[in-house]
Amino acid sequence: MTDNHLRPVSLSRRWHYAREQAISFLMQQAVENPQVISLAAGLVDFETLPVHEALAGVQELLADKDRARHALQYGTTPGADDARRAVLQHFARQEGRTPDQLGFDTARVVLTTGSQQLLSLACEVLLDPGDICLVADPTYFVFLGNLQGVGAEAVGVAADDDGMRTDALEAALRQLEAAGKLERVKLIYVVSYYDNPRGVSMSGQRRREVVDIARRWSRTQRILILEDAAYRELRYDGPALPSVWSCDPTGEHVIYTQTFSKSFSPGLRVGFGILPQDVIGPVCDRKGNEDFGSANFNQRLIGKVLESGGFEQHLQEVCRNYVRKRDAMLEAAEEHFSSIPGAAWVHPAGGLYVWMTLPEALDTGFNGRLFEEAVKRAGVMYVPGGLFYAAGSPRNQMRLSFGVQTPDGIREGMRRLAGAVRAVT
Ligand SMILES: Cc1ncc(COP(=O)(O)O)c(C=O)c1O
Repeated sequence: MTDNHLRPVSLSRRWHYAREQAISFLMQQAVENPQVISLAAGLVDFETLPVHEALAGVQELLADKDRARHALQYGTTPGADDARRAVLQHFARQEGRTPDQLGFDTARVVLTTGSQQLLSLACEVLLDPGDICLVADPTYFVFLGNLQGVGAEAVGVAADDDGMRTDALEAALRQLEAAGKLERVKLIYVVSYYDNPRGVSMSGQRRREVVDIARRWSRTQRILILEDAAYRELRYDGPALPSVWSCDPTGEHVIYTQTFSKSFSPGLRVGFGILPQDVIGPVCDRKGNEDFGSANFNQRLIGKVLESGGFEQHLQEVCRNYVRKRDAMLEAAEEHFSSIPGAAWVHPAGGLYVWMTLPEALDTGFNGRLFEEAVKRAGVMYVPGGLFYAAGSPRNQMRLSFGVQTPDGIREGMRRLAGAVRAVT
């Protein structure tokens, strides 16, 4: 006999690890409150999206029937050869070297669906449940979700205006050793340029130190640094720092990842990784399992705009535009927040974010009074700072993005936000 009751779905442990991601809640809030000025969204500037450059690249790709058919066909797991060559050249240019001087070829390059996919693949192939990744406190919260998604433990390391503190990193490793957990440490995650959320870059000295630390503490297993250079090219003032990758002459301690989402178009969702020799195979195995290659057409389009010089030209325009937006946000912060006791914020030299600290008693979290006041009454949204901490605190900070709003929208959003802060203090 059959009954009509639906049996519960037996969901996997993997799902359990990945449920209730804050990013989904934030996106839902934005959709449910369309009148809200979002200083939360990590979207890029709308006006400078590269319509002209993309069109020229598409026309070139499709002008020749044979080339067009290749672009419209499936590609390969690590990505299209031409595009990987163009990406390698692009990477070499940023490193101030020629591709030959890098000492490796395109075999070390993998093209991914945004750099997010590489972050996820790195977690998948390196971390078992209970393994450990050291992260700056605060750090990119979506990556904290990736770690959670594979059942790994994120151990927060104190950070300041020069990025992750290397003395605190060393202390954390000593503690893990004392707790008998050193063999579980697999990764150190570093957002090396204008990080998300604080907008600060790791100093030159710390870049060298973090590589040295990873090498020295690699006792039974190699501890890899996952260098996330998502915002490297969004540089507005200050020096162009060398990558953490360049501080590792062996090339075997750093997984480097970068994206064209911020510098060109997130709609294309092309990112890339430069991987140590013995990591490329495992990453491609796993990627083969997931999608056996990211969108071939999009990769080739990026390859074309890199080759034509359209990318570099466009990037200059993008940066000029973001300087105006950053300045609009900083000026508005000065105007509306400087009289709020305890309010302080970072002046970023690049990237998309301003990190603001509010009076200590104020809770910026989803369930605090400020979030409700800001979204429901003032009509402005931010990302609560607590989301970016491995262990979920402190609660009196917020990340403000100047990416997608116009300068006027930024000014109005900051005015509303300061009003909401005053209303709950
Ligand atoms: C620090 C950081 N890394 C990686 C990404 C992923 O971007 P994408 O997958 O579009 O390359 C983001 C996106 O906001 C980010 O902020």
